[in-house]
Amino acid sequence: MSYPYQIKSLEAYQQAYKQSIESPENFWADVASHFHWRRKWDKTLEWNFTEPKVEWFKNAKLNITENCLDRHLKNLANRPAIIWEPNDPEEHHRVLTYKDLHYKVCQFANVLKNNGVKKGDRVCIYMGMIPELAIAVLACARIGAIHSVIFGGFSAQSIADRLQDAQAEYIVTCDGAYRGQKDIPLKNVIDDALIGCRFVKRVIVCTRTRTPVSMLKGRDVWWEDEVKKVETLGMFDCPAEEMDAEDPLFILYTSGSTGKPKGVVHACGGYMVYTNYTFVNVFQYQPGDIHFCTADIGWITGHSYIVYGPLSAGATTLMFEGVPTYPDAGRLWDIVDKFRVNILYTAPTAIRSLMGFGLGPLQGKKLTSLKTLGTVGEPINEEAWHWFDEHVGKGKCPIVDTWWQTETGGILISNMAGITPSKPSWATLPLPGVQPILVDDRGEEITEAVDGEFKGNLCIKAPWPAIIRTTYGDHERCKKNYFSTYPELYFTGDGALKDEQGNYRITGRVDDVLNVSGHRIGTAEVENAINMHAGVVESAVVGYPHDIKGQGIYAFVIYNGGHGDDNLQRQNILQTVTRIIGPIAKPDKIQFVSGLPKTRSGKIMRRILRKIAENEMENIGDTSTLLDPGVVEEIKNGKL
Ligand code: WTA
Repeated sequence: MSYPYQIKSLEAYQQAYKQSIESPENFWADVASHFHWRRKWDKTLEWNFTEPKVEWFKNAKLNITENCLDRHLKNLANRPAIIWEPNDPEEHHRVLTYKDLHYKVCQFANVLKNNGVKKGDRVCIYMGMIPELAIAVLACARIGAIHSVIFGGFSAQSIADRLQDAQAEYIVTCDGAYRGQKDIPLKNVIDDALIGCRFVKRVIVCTRTRTPVSMLKGRDVWWEDEVKKVETLGMFDCPAEEMDAEDPLFILYTSGSTGKPKGVVHACGGYMVYTNYTFVNVFQYQPGDIHFCTADIGWITGHSYIVYGPLSAGATTLMFEGVPTYPDAGRLWDIVDKFRVNILYTAPTAIRSLMGFGLGPLQGKKLTSLKTLGTVGEPINEEAWHWFDEHVGKGKCPIVDTWWQTETGGILISNMAGITPSKPSWATLPLPGVQPILVDDRGEEITEAVDGEFKGNLCIKAPWPAIIRTTYGDHERCKKNYFSTYPELYFTGDGALKDEQGNYRITGRVDDVLNVSGHRIGTAEVENAINMHAGVVESAVVGYPHDIKGQGIYAFVIYNGGHGDDNLQRQNILQTVTRIIGPIAKPDKIQFVSGLPKTRSGKIMRRILRKIAENEMENIGDTSTLLDPGVVEEIKNGKL
């Protein structure tokens, strides 16, 4: 496999960028011509950000799995597609070649069909990081079913909300999952979720942990039995369903600043072209390289840079079941040495947590195979950047700081490894096809630099192929969230700085979305969960800087009565949040207060709470307009 669209020099980047802006249609048509289409497009792009409506590769037909699997069978059949490293280092790893993966995807696609799944049906996937997860995802894509993967850390209630929203009638799960020291009883969680979701017709359960599970007659079946069935029926091949370029490929739920998580919808054609293009260019993937992205497939990073980007490029992608600190903090380095990993793509929070263990865990690790390092999910602080550069990259590996979002499908702003310069803690330049703009709160472009830097709200002026198409079942919400704050612009929700060379530094969310250990969580969601606890009258949640997680969750809670001491009450609230959302949303700090700072119209002044949580007591600003300015003093005094 060669990548004629791979950029090889700074000049080539500048040229590609210029061309992509002057003539986006020609630019992307040229990239797209290197994929396998059943039918070519009539028009490369049609769009407006008013409705919004974006169509890439209009009327083209394809199946993304033919691009990820079938087209590699001629030359790469025996190349490893997926290398899987289990949680327990003593257990044997697995290698699936492109031939193996093709076979297994077809096989499971037939299982889905045999269980009644049809094109357009929504299939919820709730599994640990085992190859069967990637197989299930691709099998859905093979038959045109829309997958919706839910991260294994979400609670039954969160799953039920998502199942309802997507009206998903089919579920693929495991008996359990291993993650570090923990066994997560996935099927039990699904059973709890399904108590209120009677519309679910079938649950397919893959064996992993041999945790005892209850299998409901008529609803639950074993993956392994179903595979045997299709084999007995002689169903080996599974022709790929012909999809329109704009047909939905998947839904992935993500948190916004208000309400429940929304289902971000991505389309087959544009998503395929863009994830492949960014994978090949940002990481400068060379045929034969081993690419290791440490994300979970339950998040967008796993979708785009463990599954679709690498596989569509015929790459070898490494999937790791466990966590970086199990059985010890040297695990990632052991994996790098064991498989001679060339590209390591991880999150700043993981780097900071490993830094905390000192250099001991790096001793005796070679790390000589590494060529490129990457980070994603949150701003990387300079200290973590330099540690990664010095101790992992040994000063020889470019680090790509990749900025993007669930809604963008793929990386939008990043340096390209060894091609465009890096700048610690700066995501740097927009990729070809991406037109960022910084605006003030009224939507006017920022044209004045202060100390050589422009500062504003980050928006994008025109569509790239993997832009969000809609939020599932609620197009208005998509419009309101992303395309209405500033007319005719896609608003990212992030604030950013730009230097005079055009480099961008993402400073963090300017809305009520938190980024905790690289996981997106809405403050409103956490508040709703806390308020579910009997005894809680009201709560307000804000973020504060956290050394390892990037941001921590700080909750101010008005509590009424209840038994026991403050600590027990705190534990009870944490338990409630775990039930309603999942452990990732547990507040780090809970301060009990008698009132919250509110305006006369009853709006909570989060700005003030944020300052208190950040320990910026002097900069609280004017409190005279508050209903009861006295509460501010009380809250300040009780600060944890
Ligand atoms: C943040 C993850 C700074 C940002 C792919 C964005 C980043 C949110 C970076 C999206 C980065 C992601 N530097 N901040 N390199 N990458 N972010 O949807 O606030 O889980 O809006 O997608 O993460 O998170 P999401």
